[in-house]
Amino acid sequence: MLAAKTFFETPSEQLTPRMEEDFFTSLMTRNKTYKTTFHDRFSDINPYLLEYLQHHAPPAPRILDVGVSSGISTVELYDDLRQGGLEVEILGTDILIDALLVRVFPKCHALVEPSGFPLRFDLPLVTMKPWVTRKDYYNGLFILRKFVNALFTRRVHRILRNPDNAGISEVKLVTPRALAKAGITMCTDDISRYNSAFEAKFDFVRAANVLNNGYFSHTVLSTMIANIGRYLRRPHGSLFVVRTHEDRANHGTLFRRGDDKHFEVVHRVGSGSEIEDVVLRAEIPEK
Ligand SMILES: C[S@@+](CC[C@H](N)C(=O)[O-])C[C@H]1O[C@@H](n2cnc3c(N)ncnc32)[C@H](O)[C@@H]1O
Repeated sequence: MLAAKTFFETPSEQLTPRMEEDFFTSLMTRNKTYKTTFHDRFSDINPYLLEYLQHHAPPAPRILDVGVSSGISTVELYDDLRQGGLEVEILGTDILIDALLVRVFPKCHALVEPSGFPLRFDLPLVTMKPWVTRKDYYNGLFILRKFVNALFTRRVHRILRNPDNAGISEVKLVTPRALAKAGITMCTDDISRYNSAFEAKFDFVRAANVLNNGYFSHTVLSTMIANIGRYLRRPHGSLFVVRTHEDRANHGTLFRRGDDKHFEVVHRVGSGSEIEDVVLRAEIPEK
């Protein structure tokens, strides 16, 4: 596993897709979702989306990609749609984009959320995940992990009390390739909280590997769907919900806002979205 400090200090042209995948996939956020991601995840689906948007969206569609993680698949969607002739602009959002790399001791760093929640600890010879795994209880590693977690986290909180501390560096948990594209913007946003700045601003929303039954209750998912519904322009706004299974097959559903308050199904990929029923039941409030 690559140390967090090494990852952020590596020039972007030297960061390989494998390095990005390994690094982001090993991060678990405070709400217990993983920043799991990998390259070419949607190469089977993007051509269909291109064709759909060519016929059902303006020539310069505004897209919202929620739960982008590292933004690797956002860059790929952007490139595929641009190469297909759409003057697309994408806003990528995630509950965790901005993080802090904190020097806790000489040659020791902690990658943390702005609140101080730990994401990764770099020690002089190893880098470690903060949370204890079942395997740790068999090999005794849980003692070390709990000790490092308690020590580093206490230090981090003390250091963060002084935001001007020279040991704090701001970092973005996003691939530098996304930040370099003029048509892609990344910002922090929680899908479960309505954001009035997004109201009726988007022609298409993609929710890839985030609106999963395993992550959220049906109540939370319904709130998220209702929020997303409000972000879509009418009459053509559409939403694509997809999940990649362990065999790397994608299963998703493309929806559009049907009557004023509900989504309807346009197209299914694989066996469709696992939350299709939640999306169809969700009521989109009027402004
Ligand atoms: C598995 S990754 C999906 C990455 C990317 N969309 C893909 O499919 O390759 C899930 C992402 O959703 C984000 N996430 C979890 N809860 C969220 C919320 N309430 N609002 C916004 N993003 C959230 C996580 O931080 C994580 O980066």
